[in-house]
Amino acid sequence: MATLRNIMPISRDDAESETGWLAIPAAGEPEIRIGFASIEERRRVLDWLNDGLRAGRPGRLVSEYPLLFERNASAVHLTVWENDAPVAFCTLWAVTFRVGVHRLRTGLISLVYTDPAARGRGHARAVAQAAIEQAGRLELGLLVLWSELDRLYRPLGFDRAGHESLLVLDALLLEQAIDTARPDPGLRVERVSPADWLEIERLRGFRTCQLELDGGELARARTIPDLEVRVAKDSHGMRAFALRGRGDDFQEVVHEWGGDPEAALLCCQSLLEACAPWNELFLMTPPSHDPLAWRLRQAGAHRVHQPMGWMRIASPAAFAKDIAAMLPSLSEL
Ligand SMILES: CC(C)(COP(=O)(O)OP(=O)(O)OC[C@H]1O[C@@H](n2cnc3c(N)ncnc32)[C@H](O)[C@@H]1OP(=O)(O)O)[C@@H](O)C(=O)NCCC(=O)NCCS
Repeated sequence: MATLRNIMPISRDDAESETGWLAIPAAGEPEIRIGFASIEERRRVLDWLNDGLRAGRPGRLVSEYPLLFERNASAVHLTVWENDAPVAFCTLWAVTFRVGVHRLRTGLISLVYTDPAARGRGHARAVAQAAIEQAGRLELGLLVLWSELDRLYRPLGFDRAGHESLLVLDALLLEQAIDTARPDPGLRVERVSPADWLEIERLRGFRTCQLELDGGELARARTIPDLEVRVAKDSHGMRAFALRGRGDDFQEVVHEWGGDPEAALLCCQSLLEACAPWNELFLMTPPSHDPLAWRLRQAGAHRVHQPMGWMRIASPAAFAKDIAAMLPSLSEL
């Protein structure tokens, strides 16, 4: 079997060029390219990837992942080429998590994909390995990804890390929780309007750990299809929000909420009512104390635990530096 070790930056200048790192092709062997050499190559890879992951819905993947594909210099795309065709792919997104007042440089690996005709030959593992090495070069302390595939990621040095809980929500349970919590009767729940996003961001900002996004990235994130948002307002303004769905992911999951838990219950209720014929939704909550989860648990919500994802250190030096700065607040991580 051909090895996939042909990634090599031609020079530091090339490495920092607009298209990212370049690879030297080795005749007859698969080759991993980092970035796209041309607009044509980018179009070809994205069309192939969209056909594989979102068949019959042209352009869907780019619209679901605007932060990765719309001119984002911190998103690195890695493609395995064989016989002048893309055969495997993944994306490494360099982000920063704000933890209290500190920062944790992190790489998120996503969209790992191998063409059906090329599966079982180590391409996914090789492209993920290339992403790990790239993350080290970019001085990202930590790498995180979400997957069920132990056999793919454990040999690459990833470990299961963290837990999250899903609470099962149905109409009766929400009614009971709302009865007990007695949200202000002056609250009204609405679909989100463009003017609401600034306030949603303010409410999100109260979290201890948060992915940092700039204004442009936030604006693009709002365009993701199949994102359902409810806001609860009173005469003073927004009191809470809740988000369900994100492209093809999280269709049945309220994956984000913020503000007063009593008001957020009303947002969850409205989201559930709008997804008939389903009669259940899930609420994703962190393992730490969460006031909304607590109210739902009091009302009898059933909880499903699941591992959060996979992590490994990419650049030990960068990780040590970031962690050393935040040691006093480590328990919040
Ligand atoms: C999952 C996927 C990327 C694997 O690609 P691949 O190139 O065939 O994977 P590799 O050949 O590098 O396999 C690496 C390891 O993962 C294991 N693996 C691959 N696909 C697997 C699957 N569907 N279920 C369980 N294990 C799997 C392989 O057995 C191999 O482990 P081994 O060496 O112990 O046998 C490919 O099947 C795919 O694109 N699927 C659709 C998209 C998808 O599910 N992506 C999510 C990835 S997180």
